[in-house]
Amino acid sequence: MRITASAPGKLMLMGEHAVVYGYPCLVTSVGLRYAAMITPSDDAMVRIETGQLDVPRVVPFAQAGNAPPRETAFVEAVIARFRDEHGLSQGFLLQTDGPEVSYGLGSSSAVTVATAAALDALIETQLDKRALFDLTYGAVLDVQGSGSGYDVASAIYGGTIYFRKDVPEIEPISLVSLPLVIGYSGSKVGTVGLVAQVAALREAYPDLINPIFATMSDAVEQAREALTSGDWAALGRLMNINQGLTDALGVNTGRLSSLIYAARDAGALGAKLSGAGGGDCMFALTEPGVNQAVRESIEDVGGQVIDLPLGVQGVHVTQD
Ligand code: MEV
Repeated sequence: MRITASAPGKLMLMGEHAVVYGYPCLVTSVGLRYAAMITPSDDAMVRIETGQLDVPRVVPFAQAGNAPPRETAFVEAVIARFRDEHGLSQGFLLQTDGPEVSYGLGSSSAVTVATAAALDALIETQLDKRALFDLTYGAVLDVQGSGSGYDVASAIYGGTIYFRKDVPEIEPISLVSLPLVIGYSGSKVGTVGLVAQVAALREAYPDLINPIFATMSDAVEQAREALTSGDWAALGRLMNINQGLTDALGVNTGRLSSLIYAARDAGALGAKLSGAGGGDCMFALTEPGVNQAVRESIEDVGGQVIDLPLGVQGVHVTQD
């Protein structure tokens, strides 16, 4: 028997950083899928094969999650939670697979969610989406100590969602289309460092930074309305406002700015960075008449346009 779970990456649309402090964000899933394959074994060993490791990691079942290498830390934290919370008590081979280049679009949350869904199927815990979120987000916090969990929610629910971590509130938004162009800045960055950088700024200037988060939150609420009603002109303006606020948080870069302004100059309704900032991706909202010009303009300043389906299905499991 082999169980395969596949989960998508994500594109943060609005509300990055503020979401870490309990404000809402909007996120859509992207068709950059990662898989976790589990084959049960008779021994008490967990064997993990992933493209990031030259040799498989083999660890006694009871020790999974104890001082793991960075490459397997998230999946081992998930394994440890299934072992400790749900009585998972057998060895298995875990193989992960997916695109080598992820552009900062959520490969680690996708692999982590896929592993959780595959283990859920293996021991028939039948966790619903919310319980799967709680377990997987808990595992992410076990490893990195910070983060809102919006990427985990996106990989589980798929589509486009409104997310707030504290309740947690996870609400699907139904959309006919989302006319975006994604541009990769050429460098990947570590989210944890940028989250810490913003936390330090907030600690130093709470009277300035908290109102920025509150304004972002208002922009997210209005963007949710604009998304639902298909008011792209309003959504574009709100994206630009959000971009200005991320700049004030100190996470924008000259390179991201050049891609963003190239897109706006070519007629995009709005353009902003996506996620932690410092690199990774930006995206632009376009109309059919300017789509090609926006793409070319991003490429002219050295950005890489990434074509991916948006709002794709969340995690799903097959067995053979
Ligand atoms: C990073 O993709 C988005 C942040 O808001 C961090 C998080 O929500 O976990 C900066």
